Amino acid sequence: MHEVTLRPPAPNDVLKTRDIRKAYGKGQSRFEALKGVSLAVAQGESLAIVGKSGSGKSTLMHLLALLDSPDSGELLVGDSDASTLSVHQVNRLRNEDFGFVFQQFFLIPNASVLENVTLPLKIAGVDRRERTERGMAALRQLELEDKAKNKATNLSGGQKQRVVIARALVNNPKVIFADEPTGNLDTATGSLVEDILFDLNRELGITLVIVTHDVELAERCDRRVFIRDGNLQPDGHHVTEEEFADPANGPAGSEVQS
Ligand SMILES: Nc1ncnc2c1ncn2[C@@H]1O[C@H](COP(=O)(O)OP(=O)(O)OP(=O)(O)O)[C@@H](O)[C@H]1O
Ligand SMILES: [Mg+2]
Repeated sequence: MHEVTLRPPAPNDVLKTRDIRKAYGKGQSRFEALKGVSLAVAQGESLAIVGKSGSGKSTLMHLLALLDSPDSGELLVGDSDASTLSVHQVNRLRNEDFGFVFQQFFLIPNASVLENVTLPLKIAGVDRRERTERGMAALRQLELEDKAKNKATNLSGGQKQRVVIARALVNNPKVIFADEPTGNLDTATGSLVEDILFDLNRELGITLVIVTHDVELAERCDRRVFIRDGNLQPDGHHVTEEEFADPANGPAGSEVQS
């Protein structure tokens, strides 16, 4: 496939891919989910990745977030080629520089809200006192201070999503990756969650990479890239409402396992 350059790479890019490909399965069941994607994400921007169900959005985000590796092509994190990083370096990047707001990244049900939120700090070896301080600060930002001691299961859907955001930002990440962050929420709660993400982007300069079917959410981002059958469409591609969402494919985030 031809390579599409969405915009020229710039010095302040936090993530860059060149012609990355990813296939799942083998033999007859082999499926090419990404067919050569070149994309640059600038520091401090909010980027929406949009496209129909099955087009490769989550696959692309997993590669960008170093949760999976491409079969071929280049992925740069800052100036480092991701394929040259050690397991330890990748873990550190994921834990300290990235925050995740994925529906399938479940909370630990029987742990408290505070324990869930401070998990990345625990992994990073931060002592208990500082963990509690920073965890409570994150919960305060999300107006969940009073739920700190609750079990994570005993929360509403919107509250759970806010706990996931609190956990994503507890380490002061440079980039937050969000996969259908509002997919399972009612309109009012969804827009609250959106407001929080965009406040973090504006006030703290956290880069946002958001996968969404939601036209309005995509419109709020600085930039949108559209993916179709594993290929990115060039900048300036006019995205129709039908291209955002295909109701026949079920609701956004419908792949969520329980
Ligand atoms: N682990 C896997 N094994 C085999 N095929 C997979 C796997 N993960 C994804 N795929 C396939 O790769 C394609 C892209 O999947 P992906 O999850 O990236 O789509 P998506 O754009 O995020 O869709 P949705 O909007 O439904 O979440 C799909 O056709 C999917 O069936
Ligand atoms: Mg997906």
